[in-house]
Amino acid sequence: MNKISIVGAGMTGSTTAHWLAERELADLVLVDIVEGMPQGKGLDMLEAMPIIGKDVEIVGSNDYAATKGSDIIIITAGLPRKPGMSRDDLLSANAEIVGKAASETFKYSPDAIYIVLTNPLDTMAYLTLKTNKLPRERVIGQAGVLDSARMRAFVGMETGISLENIQCYVLGGHGDEMVPLTRLSNIAGISLKDYLPADKLEAIVNRTRKGGGEIVNLLKTGSAFYAPAAACAQMAEAILKDKHLIVPCAAYMQGEYGLNDIFFGVPVMLGRKGMEKIIEYKLDAEEKAAFDKSAAAVKETHDALKKLVKI
Ligand code: NAI
Ligand code: 2OP
Repeated sequence: MNKISIVGAGMTGSTTAHWLAERELADLVLVDIVEGMPQGKGLDMLEAMPIIGKDVEIVGSNDYAATKGSDIIIITAGLPRKPGMSRDDLLSANAEIVGKAASETFKYSPDAIYIVLTNPLDTMAYLTLKTNKLPRERVIGQAGVLDSARMRAFVGMETGISLENIQCYVLGGHGDEMVPLTRLSNIAGISLKDYLPADKLEAIVNRTRKGGGEIVNLLKTGSAFYAPAAACAQMAEAILKDKHLIVPCAAYMQGEYGLNDIFFGVPVMLGRKGMEKIIEYKLDAEEKAAFDKSAAAVKETHDALKKLVKI
């Protein structure tokens, strides 16, 4: 059986374990600093397995040794946003937590592939890659699957068409400057630009950009977890099943789209080696300008990180 360890057993971490257990993909380990909590959640989830008929071992621990031999490490540890906070406000607190999660797990699973969720997402993925000096295939940030799913959901609400027919591509950094690509997003092959009136499309783009904040403002005590966790589970499944699934994820750029040394949301192919390929769309001038603006915002947060930690 494969093994997936999830660091941070809070809302997104435990919900990721839940989605993963339903897929019977791997044995699961939950690690958190809160004593008893990951053990309690792990045992509770394990006790659900006879009911749903899945043979999955699930354990919780406060000790990184429990993660030994993991195929995938999912990092969700850190503070979530509260109303009024941007993802970047979380930088210094989460840099310390994610840096430790990355180095501690690496001691026990030097061959693991990392999926990073903690915000600010692109910069926490960068920190994980640099901390463990990993090849870029083995560190992937989750943002685009979620942001694109939000856009797909909003298009579905507007049109009433099956979500299976709706494909959306939201690229760029996981921040206010993210880039919903309306020209390439489509309903059964028809570009959203041709399908929807411009005002409706603009409203969907704006709602997508603010999708995380919309949930924060409703919940008031934390941020989204069902959809982000479903995104992590889809990515882990694509990796373990070697699916060669193309989805938008944050990847380390080495010249693609004219970008270097930053994590950035682009379409990637996920397989057993991790981030196996970056797909390069032919962008028009407007799309390229939006990419560059988003990349500048991500680079600013990377630069702020470099002032905080030596990497
Ligand atoms: P949460 O507060 O429910 O869970 C975080 C957990 O991390 C807590 O249980 C906490 O005890 C644990 N933790 C803190 N320090 C730790 C350490 N040193 N070692 C191990 N565990 C530690 O928060 P939630 O909702 O699960 O969000 C987690 C992170 O994911 C946040 O930074 C949030 O902004 C981010 N996020 C990112 C998304 C994305 O699309 N990239 C979507 C949703 C959340
Ligand atoms: C989200 O987009 C908070 O980044 C998180 O929901």
